[in-house]
Amino acid sequence: MKAILKRYWPYLKDYKFEYFLVLIGIVFTVTATAATAHIMKPLMDDLFIAKKEEMLYLIPLGLIGIYIFKSIGRYIQMVYTNYIGQHIISRFREILLEKMINLDMGFLYLNRSGELISRITNDIERIRYFVSKMLPDLIRESLTVIVLIGYIIYLNPLLAFYSLVVMPLIIYPIIVIAKKLKKYSIRSQEKNADVVSRLTEVFNNSEIIKANATEKFELERFSIENWKFFKINMKSVYVGSIVSPMMEIVGAIGLAAVIFVGGREVYNNNMSVGEFTAFLTAVGLVFQPIRRIGSIYSSIQDAYAASIRVFEVLDIKSEIIDGKELLEKDILHIEYKNVSLKYEASYALENITVEIQKGENLAIVGDSGGGKSTFINMLLRFYDPSEGVILINGEDIKKFTQHSLKHHISLVSQRIYIFQDSLALNVAYGQDVDEKRVKEALALADASSFVESLEDGIHTKMEEFGANLSGGQRQRVAIARAIYKHSSLLLFDEATSALDNESEKRIQKALDSYTKDKITITIAHRLSTIEHADKIIVMQKGAIVACGTHADLLKNSSLYQKLAGKFES
Ligand SMILES: Nc1ncnc2c1ncn2[C@@H]1O[C@H](COP(=O)(O)OP(=O)(O)OP(=O)(O)O)[C@@H](O)[C@H]1O
Ligand SMILES: [Mg+2]
Repeated sequence: MKAILKRYWPYLKDYKFEYFLVLIGIVFTVTATAATAHIMKPLMDDLFIAKKEEMLYLIPLGLIGIYIFKSIGRYIQMVYTNYIGQHIISRFREILLEKMINLDMGFLYLNRSGELISRITNDIERIRYFVSKMLPDLIRESLTVIVLIGYIIYLNPLLAFYSLVVMPLIIYPIIVIAKKLKKYSIRSQEKNADVVSRLTEVFNNSEIIKANATEKFELERFSIENWKFFKINMKSVYVGSIVSPMMEIVGAIGLAAVIFVGGREVYNNNMSVGEFTAFLTAVGLVFQPIRRIGSIYSSIQDAYAASIRVFEVLDIKSEIIDGKELLEKDILHIEYKNVSLKYEASYALENITVEIQKGENLAIVGDSGGGKSTFINMLLRFYDPSEGVILINGEDIKKFTQHSLKHHISLVSQRIYIFQDSLALNVAYGQDVDEKRVKEALALADASSFVESLEDGIHTKMEEFGANLSGGQRQRVAIARAIYKHSSLLLFDEATSALDNESEKRIQKALDSYTKDKITITIAHRLSTIEHADKIIVMQKGAIVACGTHADLLKNSSLYQKLAGKFES
């Protein structure tokens, strides 16, 4: 409990004013609750026994008054606890997304998107429940218990002792149950992440599923996770539901003790009927909040488990440390100096040394899995070299802020990404839309004719993942996006693989003059894409095995000859 509060404190302290109002509401309700017990005394002694007539009016009015007071208190509590809850959950959503999206590419590659979404939605929901429901409830119920017990002791200390001896009977089992629930709760959240992951995977891969008619297979796989989730949740229901009935029984024992001991006191004329009734009411009222505290205590474990998962993410430190210098000038020179990169145990790049200058067009060819994509991803600092350095304009790439560095780089990645926005916004992604420039970029990417065929031209809305475009059209949009950015470094990772030879040639011709004063790095499997490159490097198993122009390599590199043979066939 303390641990949770400590973690939440930095966020909770911003709601001091709201919590203060909640507290006022709580004081209202607690006072009213105690008054409900207290009013029993005049009801019995003055109205029923002494038969004072004015009490016939006063007590009902008093009762209504008490409940109005209580309702006002409840309303204030309700509004402000929910305010805190809703507010904090919105904040946490942003904090988490900000954290996750700023983490290393390595983290994002490694973690299933469903898992991350589950943390941002499900786990946070449980946190909301904690700050806006459980915490205020806990305070209110505890305060009610304290006030009522105080009142009981004030009425009759001896009787109070007898009625409260049963308390320890309640506390121990609750602690045991709470521990069990915490375990189930962690497992339940993990399972929830599995279920969401399966769902995101199904929808992301729907094309493959449909093509292979594996709907049933996927449904079965989903069903397994889904019912595991059900089972875990039911386990915590079985255990968690014991708390309340158990307390009911213990409460009944307490009440029975009071009736037995107190009844005798009244019988012997040591206590008035009114006092006894007020006492009995107070004891009856005290068990309800104790029961609530018990169940809150056990479900706090659930919130605790959720917060562990959330704070775990917040605590992750990026391995890629952002630089401080701004890269203001264009990228004029890139140098890889003995660069190696290890993914876990194996090398993805080994001892790479290359130099590229403004105006040059470097091409990379090689086996699949040879490290080509890794090579260019390092310029975007998706990963930092395990050994060696990458120099930009003669300075270590790590010195620059990633924001300023990336401002100068355009990437057309192997997988194409389309956002659910208009075509124009997709091309201008992240920048202001200048329609003329959008059209120019699309023209350079050989997309003019396809854009003209669209009903709303560049204002046509793109579907999720670009579902309303063909593979080649998607690639053209991605190329246009890279062109629109006007960066000094262009990275094309299989950027034209989905295009026919004719379109590719057209784009290349168009890009020739555009890239004259820029650095271009092109990865391609098709020879025609790269044969005019200034320099071609051949990569195999993470190493550069040959380097030169098309003509050089055809003469000297057996691997290139082999690849060329493959390309041409
Ligand atoms: N995020 C990653 N974590 C671990 N290993 C990775 C990761 N990304 C790539 N690899 C490994 O690094 C090696 C190089 O991958 P890379 O994507 O650079 O190859 P590539 O040359 O671009 O291949 P292709 O032509 O198929 O695109 C591969 O063996 C791959 O398994
Ligand atoms: Mg690749």
